[in-house]
Amino acid sequence: MSTEKVAVAKSDEVVDGELHAVIADGRRALLTRYQGRVVAFANSCPHLGLSMARGKLIGQVLRCPWHGSRFDICSGENLDWVNAFMGVPMPRWTHKVFYMGKSPAPLETLEAEERDGEVFITPPTTGKKRS
Ligand code: FES
Repeated sequence: MSTEKVAVAKSDEVVDGELHAVIADGRRALLTRYQGRVVAFANSCPHLGLSMARGKLIGQVLRCPWHGSRFDICSGENLDWVNAFMGVPMPRWTHKVFYMGKSPAPLETLEAEERDGEVFITPPTTGKKRS
């Protein structure tokens, strides 16, 4: 596992309120800009490992597009666990069915920095590695 930061994007590709998908050392990550600084996290939902590139970002909260779990993108904290299916809210009594045996877990946040117009991040350790 590499803990060295790797270049993944140009600084101007990372915009406030938008998600920018990248690959870092073979694993998927997402970038955005929040309050002027780049924020990076694994693009692998802690629930089922699915991509959150089409998730809804409001401020520093990202909602997974699959089952509605919400995460603080700065701390990784899980704010809400599995409450929807494909964006459609589900009755509370069904939530545990959609847990699929997975307990609430935080999002993996990544170190990020900008240098000379480029964004560098530590590669995620979660998510499937692509060769
Ligand atoms: S895959 Fe994200 S909440 Fe299920």
